[in-house]
Amino acid sequence: MATSTSGMGQVLARAGHTSDPWGRYYTTPIVSQSLVDRIEVAKPKLVLELGSGSGSLCTAAATRWHKAQLVTVDVDSRAPKALDADMVGTGRRHSHYVHDVLDAALSDKIGLAPGTVDVAVCNPPYIRPKWRSDFGKILEDAGLSGTLASLHDAGADLLFLAQNLRLLRKNGKLGLILPDGLITAERFSGVRKTLLRQHLIEQVVQLPRGVFKGTEAQTYLAVLSKSAGETNQVTLRQMDSDGQLSVPIEILQEAAVKRLDFTFHARVVSPQRSGEGPMRMSVRQALTDVVRGTVCSSSISAFPAPVFHLGDFSEPLGEHAVRVVPKRFALSERKAQQMLEEARLALPGDILLARVGRSLEDRLALVVHGPCVISDCIFALRAMDEHRERLYRFFDSDLGRHALASSAHGVAARFMSKTNLFEIQF
Ligand SMILES: C[S@@+](CC[C@H](N)C(=O)[O-])C[C@H]1O[C@@H](n2cnc3c(N)ncnc32)[C@H](O)[C@@H]1O
Repeated sequence: MATSTSGMGQVLARAGHTSDPWGRYYTTPIVSQSLVDRIEVAKPKLVLELGSGSGSLCTAAATRWHKAQLVTVDVDSRAPKALDADMVGTGRRHSHYVHDVLDAALSDKIGLAPGTVDVAVCNPPYIRPKWRSDFGKILEDAGLSGTLASLHDAGADLLFLAQNLRLLRKNGKLGLILPDGLITAERFSGVRKTLLRQHLIEQVVQLPRGVFKGTEAQTYLAVLSKSAGETNQVTLRQMDSDGQLSVPIEILQEAAVKRLDFTFHARVVSPQRSGEGPMRMSVRQALTDVVRGTVCSSSISAFPAPVFHLGDFSEPLGEHAVRVVPKRFALSERKAQQMLEEARLALPGDILLARVGRSLEDRLALVVHGPCVISDCIFALRAMDEHRERLYRFFDSDLGRHALASSAHGVAARFMSKTNLFEIQF
């Protein structure tokens, strides 16, 4: 069943070959967990998964919503019929059906009235099944039949989405994993427009590229609230291969109809990429040196000079002001000479960044008043004169903060390596 592979495969593990007739590849726990975590709902009574396969998504759902009744459906009779024994728990009601999800009469077959499900999670197969009249009925009921130039363009992903919409109650939540087509392709812009007008698409998370072994397939997590009003604004994020999420960007409905991928919209807000302004370069190319402090936090209080540490960064001051290291950290020339024996120093002109910490992307300062001692949680970037201001302004912008946030690794404690820092383009 689910096989874990390295790299891209850490996110989704695929079963079978690209030509698998039922599109069977299974979501890994890290993505399942992230999808379930993104669904804001108090105490759902009824949770559904169509195309449940190995049960990764419904296991994550069952772990979070202990008391919910769970219904799973898969056409593959070899797919597990129950959740792991430890997930079933006493008193859990779980019904599994071996049935074709693309049956227009599904709701009768699985004993669920249309419009009754509180939460649905789904990673549909990305295949194009041979057209049947049932499909027209499913799309029609979900309000999606007028959205495609040809109904025959509807793949199983869209049909599963429609089937979920039929079964969900008003304001019910749908957490989906979707392929690139529905998110970015022009021929699906009508589908996106209808979905955005009829439902509240809360967020879309771009998953790391290449979730299919051996291809560069791109997939996304999406969460919507059925008929909960029109979507005026959508939150987009990107997940890195460690499961870390980027800072969000918000896009308006019109932009979302065009496409819903984070990388496209993040690029659009970058002036350098649109051909204006100076050529982009890597941080490495702009620096003559980078210094990592050596004083650890437990030695700061006893250190014979003030040490600039994480708590000493000031809040952002707005786009025209520069955040400067306070005067009290500046060493006289003589003191600086003495301190050289004991610690690494930041020099006037250096740009300071946090190397570790939850919101490291918000920490930025410029050394102005004199050399200063920095802790081992700080990087001092020694930029060439001609690049210093642009580099500082970049780290102070949303784009720079996003670049820092997505370069940082680690789930419990986030940290940024020199290598990752060097690779950032600005
Ligand atoms: C991409 S896999 C996802 C499996 C599981 N939900 C997960 O995330 O790991 C798609 C699942 O849909 C099932 N499937 C494909 N076509 C189906 C259909 N017409 N009716 C019901 N299940 C189907 C496959 O057997 C497979 O288990």
